[in-house]
Order: sequence, then structure tokens, then C-alpha cells
Amino acid sequence: MYASARKKRSDNGSESARPYEPEKNPAVRRLTAGAIKRRKAKTAFPIATAYDAPFAQFVEDAGIDVVLVGDSVGNVVLGYEETTPVTVDDIVYHTKAVARGTSRAHIIADMPFGSYQVSNEEALRSAIRFVKEGGACSVKLEGGVHEADRVRAIARAGIPVVGHIGVTPQTAGLGPGFKMRTHRERLIEDARAIEEAGAYAIVLEVVDHEVSREITALLTIPTIGIGSGPHCDAQVLVLHDLLGMYPHSPPFAKRYAEVGRLATEALGAFARDVRERTFP
Ligand code: KIV
Repeated sequence: MYASARKKRSDNGSESARPYEPEKNPAVRRLTAGAIKRRKAKTAFPIATAYDAPFAQFVEDAGIDVVLVGDSVGNVVLGYEETTPVTVDDIVYHTKAVARGTSRAHIIADMPFGSYQVSNEEALRSAIRFVKEGGACSVKLEGGVHEADRVRAIARAGIPVVGHIGVTPQTAGLGPGFKMRTHRERLIEDARAIEEAGAYAIVLEVVDHEVSREITALLTIPTIGIGSGPHCDAQVLVLHDLLGMYPHSPPFAKRYAEVGRLATEALGAFARDVRERTFP
């Protein structure tokens, strides 16, 4: 397999003779939710999404030790316009790939639309699949006060949960869309409800920066910002946005590379070489 093949090769391409290591439970070596929770109010930490083994390995190799298998997989990998069509099976499949491509990173599986709304039982059943089949270390779900019961049910079963408030893309079409959320009291109430329900961290998506600062100061769990300013305990970006895989990315997402353009150029060079018989 690609990822493990990369790991086993030394710089000169030969198989490295590694000292004997007893078999370990891989889950034990991964960063725990407790360790992430203890990062509250310390150095800000990065989180990136990943959906397959090689890119998950790039993320881990870059020193990013928290990987989110976001339901953004629907938009950036599966070709949907929205995240709502993403299924539990999709997230299990992509979480497995991310688990194979990493060894130490904490993997958060995003609970897709329809996998937790109906009942606590169904939410727990879905969360268990992400952990048992996918190899996730924790799960994330969208919603504030109204989803606090779901967070509580999953956390009580021993599965660490990340909350997600502000812009919640699964239901953005029902409310004010993707506009910045500024309703201070409602946001604080949502954040408190999610913390009180037992979440170990919370995503603040496109939340007014001053409200984000206030929530970060009020909560005892880390806040993970996306488009919510510099005051959060962590920052998360969608991999395809930060690598510049598509021509457009959200205004808050810094493009650290232009991988989409590079890929098209490389493929164009290959196509030219084949047509001109200069390769092979
Ligand atoms: O699905 C996702 O990638 C997310 C992040 C944008 C936080 O939920």
C-alpha cells in the first residue's frame, strides 16, 4: 500500500532494517482527546481535513497531529454541491483510508447529515461505526442547544465528541446561509450547552471574531476556528482550500500552494510528451 510503502523506504530507496518492535494497539499511540483538551489556552494548534491515505500522511508528516475526516468530502472529493448527500458509509470508507495513512494523529470523523438527528440511539449507533469500523478516535457533529442531547449520549458511551456551531453547512440552506454568525447571546448559549453536554472541543465556523474571542475565554474546552478570527485555541482548514486544489476557495482560507494548477501543468506536460513521442 502506498502509505506504508513510503514509510518503510529509506532515503536511498532501500528497505530499512528496523529494530524489532512488539505489536502494539495502533489506537493507543494516537493523540487522545484528553491531550487535545489539555491544549486549551496554550500554543494555538493546527488541524487539517484529509480523506485518503497519502494526503493524510502528508498532513501527519507536516506535524499536524489532528486530522478531520470532514463531510466536506462531499464537496471537495465526491463532486456534490453540498455536504447533505454524504453517507455514514462514505465517512467510514474515508476514515479507514486516513487511519491507514497515519499512525499518531488523532482522527475525528465528521457525522454526516442524517446520521444523528433522528434519535440518541441512532446517533450513538453511527458514532460507534466510525470508531469500530473506521478507526476514528472521536466524532464531530453540527448543532448547538438542540443537539446537546446527542453530544451527551455519545460522550456518555465513551466516545469523545467535538461540537460545531456558527455556520453549520449541513443545514445552512435553512437559515442565513454561509453569512457570518453574529448573534452573541445565541452563540454563547450554544457553546455552553455543547461544553456542558460533554464535548471535549468545539468548532466555531464563521463566527464574529469578537464573539469567538469571548467564547474562547468562557469555555474550558478548546475552540477550533474556521473563518472565526485569530483568538481560537486551534484553527482548521479544508485541505483542498489550503493547498489551492480548486480555482476558488472561501475568503477566510489562505492558499498555501497552487496544487491544482501544478497538477494540471504536470498532466499537460505528460500529455504533450506522449503526443510528441518524447516519453517514454
Ligand atoms: O466538513 C468539514 O470539513 C468541516 C470543517 C469545515 C470544520 O466540518
